[in-house]
Amino acid sequence: MSEPAAEQHASIPRHIAIIMDGNGRWAKQHGRARIYGHHQGVESVRKVVEACSELGVEYLTLYAFSTENWKRPIEEVNALMELLVRTIRKETPELNSQNVCIRTIGNTGSLPEDCVNELQEAISLTAGNTGLNLVLALSYSGRSELAAAMQAMGKEVAEGRLDPDTIDEQTIASHLYTVDIPDPELVIRTSGEYRISNYLLWQSAYAEFYFTETLWPDFDKEELLLAIHSFQQRERRFGKISEQLPMKP
Ligand code: FPP
Repeated sequence: MSEPAAEQHASIPRHIAIIMDGNGRWAKQHGRARIYGHHQGVESVRKVVEACSELGVEYLTLYAFSTENWKRPIEEVNALMELLVRTIRKETPELNSQNVCIRTIGNTGSLPEDCVNELQEAISLTAGNTGLNLVLALSYSGRSELAAAMQAMGKEVAEGRLDPDTIDEQTIASHLYTVDIPDPELVIRTSGEYRISNYLLWQSAYAEFYFTETLWPDFDKEELLLAIHSFQQRERRFGKISEQLPMKP
C-alpha cells in the first residue's frame, strides 16, 4: 500500500491520542498467550513514537493501562507491569536521544513501586527534551480524573482559595492531569471497537475520531499516516458553519 500523499503538506495534528486495543485478540489469532500480544504491542509503540517524532507531532498520548485494567486476571496485570518496567528501562536511552520527553497521566501512585521508580527516572532524564511529548496514560480513568479535579476544587472553595462563581472551563481544565497539555485533535482506536472507554473524556470534546479494524500489534507508520490523512480530510467546524471558517490554502 502506498503512503497517502497529504501528510507533510496539510496540517499534522498537534496532539494524537491512541487507544491501543487488540493485543489479546492478535495473540489468540497467532496461537499465543495474551502477554505475547502485549509484547508485540510494544513494537507498534516504538514505530508510532518514531513516526510521530518525524512528522512533528507535539504530543502523543497512549492508553497503556486503564483503571479498569486492574480487574484483569492478576497474572496478566503483573505481566503488563513487568513489561512496562522493562520497556521503560530499555527504551528510555533511545527515546532520550530522539529528544522525546516522557510524561504520565493517571493515578500513577497506584502502580507497583519499581514501576513508579522507573517512570520517575525516565521522566527526570527526559524532562528537558524539546521534541515529542510521549504521554503514558497509566492507571488512568477519565471519570476519576474529573472526580479528583472536583474534589480539589471543592477543597479550595472550602478553604476560601477559590470563588465558586469564578469556576469555568479553564478552572476545570487546570485541575486535570493534562493541565499543560493541549486537547487531542485526533483520537485513534484500533481493533474495530467503537468506544471511548473512559479515555480523555473532557479533553476529547472536539477531537476527531478515527477507528480502524487493525489490531494494535499490526499498527505501524503506514496505518498512522492513514489516520492522519483521514483527519486532514475533515472539516473541523467547532459548532460554526463551513462559510464561517478560514479559507484553506
Ligand atoms: C489492549 O489490548 C491493550 C492493553 C490493555 C495494554 C497496552 C499495553 C501495551 C501496548 C504495552 C505497554 C505499553 C507501553 C507504552 C510500554 P487488549 O489486551 O484489551 O486486547 P483484546 O481486546 O484483544 O483482548
